[in-house]
Amino acid sequence: MGEIVSYSVVDGVAVVTIDNPPVNAMDRGVRAGLQKTFSDLKGRSDVKAIVLGCAGRTFVAGADIKEFDTGIAPPGFHEVLRLVEDSACPVVAAVHGTALGAGTELALSCHYRVADKTARFGLPELSLGIIPGAGGTQRLPRVVTLAHALDMILSGKPVAAPAARDMGLVDAIIDGDLMTGAVAFARNLVAKGAGPRRTREQPAKGAENADSLLEEKRKQVAKTMRNRQSPLALLDALKAAARLPFDEGLKVESDLSAKLEQATESRALRHLFFAEREVRKIPSIPASVQPRPITHVGIVGAGTMGGGIAMSFANIGVPVTVLDAKQEFLDTGFGRMRGNYERSVTRGSLKPEQADQRMGLIKPTLDAAKLGEADLIIEAVFENMALKKDIFRTLDKVARPGAILGTNTSTLDIGEIGAVTSRPQDVVGLHFFSPAHVMPLLEIVQTDKTAPDVLATALDVAKNIRKVGVVAKNSYGFIGNRMMDPYAREAEHCLLEGATPEQVDGALQDFGMAMGILAVFDLAGVEVGPSTRRERRHLLPKDPGYYRCSDMLVEKGWFGQKTGRGYYRYDNPGHKRTPDAEAAEMFWEEGKRLGVARRNPDRREIQERCFFSMINEGALLLEEGVALRAGDIDVVYASGYGFPRYRGGPMFYADTIGLKVIHDRLLEFKRTLDPQYWTPAPLLAKLAADGSTFAQWDAGRQ
Ligand code: COA
Repeated sequence: MGEIVSYSVVDGVAVVTIDNPPVNAMDRGVRAGLQKTFSDLKGRSDVKAIVLGCAGRTFVAGADIKEFDTGIAPPGFHEVLRLVEDSACPVVAAVHGTALGAGTELALSCHYRVADKTARFGLPELSLGIIPGAGGTQRLPRVVTLAHALDMILSGKPVAAPAARDMGLVDAIIDGDLMTGAVAFARNLVAKGAGPRRTREQPAKGAENADSLLEEKRKQVAKTMRNRQSPLALLDALKAAARLPFDEGLKVESDLSAKLEQATESRALRHLFFAEREVRKIPSIPASVQPRPITHVGIVGAGTMGGGIAMSFANIGVPVTVLDAKQEFLDTGFGRMRGNYERSVTRGSLKPEQADQRMGLIKPTLDAAKLGEADLIIEAVFENMALKKDIFRTLDKVARPGAILGTNTSTLDIGEIGAVTSRPQDVVGLHFFSPAHVMPLLEIVQTDKTAPDVLATALDVAKNIRKVGVVAKNSYGFIGNRMMDPYAREAEHCLLEGATPEQVDGALQDFGMAMGILAVFDLAGVEVGPSTRRERRHLLPKDPGYYRCSDMLVEKGWFGQKTGRGYYRYDNPGHKRTPDAEAAEMFWEEGKRLGVARRNPDRREIQERCFFSMINEGALLLEEGVALRAGDIDVVYASGYGFPRYRGGPMFYADTIGLKVIHDRLLEFKRTLDPQYWTPAPLLAKLAADGSTFAQWDAGRQ
């Protein structure tokens, strides 16, 4: 194996290369290598300029996130970056791929920056609950304006090379070979007699407006990044950059970083970072298994879901054929897709020619035989077993051998659907979330017949269409909807006990959910739940209060937003959500009629009942093997159900509360509420008794 950091000197220019696959994370080895290299170079009078670049697919893509758990081993970031910045001859960063986090901070401690056309610069630390801690908050506003620095770090979005050049972050974009261009740039500096241009010696840009700018952002962040501490810490660090000398500002940044790294917010977000990558590792798939190539996709059903799925593939350049039963369904569906793309064009996120090109990849058909060329066919019609079976019988006839047959069902038994075909090994559940071209989650549902390479392909497909694919075993509701059931059941039941919809949703939103569940039902259509429950009547709990409020709304024809009334009213100008005293009254009256005690549950009780029952169901899913890891459940909830990422997902959250606390509270609810719902799952009881956590349970199974 070669050195992690190496260098060679040609005609007075030293080219330093970091080679630390897969993403050149700036771990201890890289820091030590840079320290050694720049110390060596300091003593060489023949070196007139230094170019710093990376081997492999990217420039440094960040600190090594694992190191936050163990503590940063020496040499530290500040020490190494200071050494680079102190260099007596000009240092040029040559950036390709993604310079993220410590990568951008390293580039900022170089005196000049050049990049190839595809390079991107970003400081995504807030997505990990920390702030740039290697001088980024102090150096960035000395290179770009404070306003740009704020936007870059608050949004976490990487900036492409041309925009980076426009804001002064990049000095030149190199056409052709990056290192050749970077060396030529360095030679030119030497020829001009340009010396080092140390970032820390520059004044912060736009500091005169700092107070008003930071105050405005503080107000914004309090609303848009509720319950979070890292964005507020960022504003403090940037204030220091604007007001204090560099070294004092750096000290403020360090103190803030040290606190944030230990906090639950960062631990939760780091957990999700690794959990989102861990989901791809399925022990039952042998390493030798190769995914099947997917070059053409067929979709059955041009509805909202089918259209969104088609767009997900067209967005990555894969041709799609969409089948529906009637021309008018195709026309409506294609109109909707075009409308979605047009909105992206209006928003500026897509060029008109890109929209045309993507739309051009999606072809309509009324003829099932046209799906014969597809490598993957995804059925996305409404939830009806007989209809889905019919479709799968047809697909079995028209699909080419080896084609994968996916169903987007969210509730039906996929094994039963696959059994009508002659190839159940090729059948898999692909549960997208609406709107499918936007939502990042894909639940991949494996039946006991699904072939390992089909599963591997589904995981590959998820990554390619930029979604996170989580594998679940075939079982009612899979992971996400199964855990939604007790969560929403409790939310609903609180209405019979005297809470209003605003109180219930308010408690859930205060916790950090993107939306309260009752507002979600109003959005999705209140009738959806009761209609799926009707199919499973014989399996439902014997409880007259079970989702009684939903049933009442459906009886009244109050289906939510689309009818102007549901748990809330929307029948006002602008269709805004407003409280509906009549509905609340109706629920209380019904509670009285059913003999439900009027508990008037408070915020804390609402949250505990909803989330603890959800967590208990999660523990059952783990025992049943429906979910492979607690981390998988967390990924499902954080990416598909609006669970606050900064709490790490329900199972991570449970660990932070303590499983014993949850276990005891479940038993208390068993005494004071309907006892049929509150028996702690055996796994939860065991972990609580052992003083253990779901994270430890996951780790013990690797
Ligand atoms: N620290 C430690 N490990 C990291 C890492 C980091 N900063 N960035 C990536 N990795 C690991 C991943 O866990 C993954 O490991 P695995 O193969 O064992 O699962 C591997 O590197 C490849 O990463 P992956 O995300 O699968 O590759 P990609 O090509 O899809 O994306 C990046 C590459 C760099 C865009 C992406 O990994 C990323 O965003 N990394 C984090 C960047 C960041 O937040 N930096 C700031 C840190 S302070």
